[in-house]
Amino acid sequence: MADFIWGIDAGTFTRPEQPNKIQYMATRWTSYAFYMISWFMATIVAPGIRLLLKFRFYPKDTEEFFSNLTKESIEMRLKSGKNSSRTDYLSHLLQLREQKQATHDDLVGHALTVLLDGYDTTGTALLHALYYLAESPAAQQKLRTEIFSSLDEEKSIDFDKLCGLPYLEQVVYESLRLSSLIPQYTKVCTTSTDIKLSELKNIRVEKGITIMIPNYQFHHDEKYFSDPEDFRPERFDNGAYQELMRKGIFLPFSDGPRVCMGIRLALLTLKSALFYIICNFYVVRKTERLIPRGDSGFGVVLQGDINLEYRRVFR
Ligand code: HEM
Repeated sequence: MADFIWGIDAGTFTRPEQPNKIQYMATRWTSYAFYMISWFMATIVAPGIRLLLKFRFYPKDTEEFFSNLTKESIEMRLKSGKNSSRTDYLSHLLQLREQKQATHDDLVGHALTVLLDGYDTTGTALLHALYYLAESPAAQQKLRTEIFSSLDEEKSIDFDKLCGLPYLEQVVYESLRLSSLIPQYTKVCTTSTDIKLSELKNIRVEKGITIMIPNYQFHHDEKYFSDPEDFRPERFDNGAYQELMRKGIFLPFSDGPRVCMGIRLALLTLKSALFYIICNFYVVRKTERLIPRGDSGFGVVLQGDINLEYRRVFR
């Protein structure tokens, strides 16, 4: 995400032995925000308390850190004159500044919105996918076989081939179905609509009404997904997810005008990470105890430590 937003190498992979400031700040910033969501919810009946107790959504030092990071990245980009040659979020921010006179705070705000939307979501999705693969050695081996057979002579893969690996895609979608990271979507009705519930019953949703889409419940309804609690990527054989998405039953990235803006980036990140990890490591669950799933308050995630072991694959 640091590469995508600010055009910088955060060093997560290139300097893993050094303390990683961006990762530390991003994690602290998101964890604090998720923690504060429950306090904001708890004070919904008396919002004045928030002012009285000077609630903050994010810690001050992280705000300052990301504000400076944005400032320095912009300066670096302008100095190097590479603005037009790299298509990333920073170049979009620079355009906003020039064309819409966006202030520095606006730019930092946009950058941090994308960080919040893209960092924890993709990380949590990857963690769940690895856990499910550790739980299902047969699926993991099937994925590894597909990956091995796709490698070229240099033992790498190009973008188009990676995006076209069917089982990898099914593993990603099945993980997103099971975990349903954002369990409900809240939407505002823009056109008054009649919904037919049965032959005798209609429901009218008036324009302006807020509705909630029970995404998690759809994803776990056995009417649409047999044995819904099982991790079974085969259920999406032959692109079966497309029809389910069209019907509004499978919505890992929501739908409509406010659909996730980062779908392509999220899928690319997840696929590249899984590709690399499964190609090079056997992922094995270390603890015997199954980790229960539960509602963390924001998304439905695995509860407890995910204790996975990575054993090198020798080829
Ligand atoms: C596996 C990873 C991801 C999942 C499961 C996911 C899921 C979602 C969902 C369900 C929504 C809509 C929420 C709603 O309707 O209430 C959403 C919105 C959004 N997502 Fe993602 N997302 C992911 C990754 C990303 C990434 C990597 C980015 C950024 C590059 C991103 C940027 C956004 C933005 C900006 C919105 C708000 C769109 C709007 O309201 O117009 N997401 N995401």
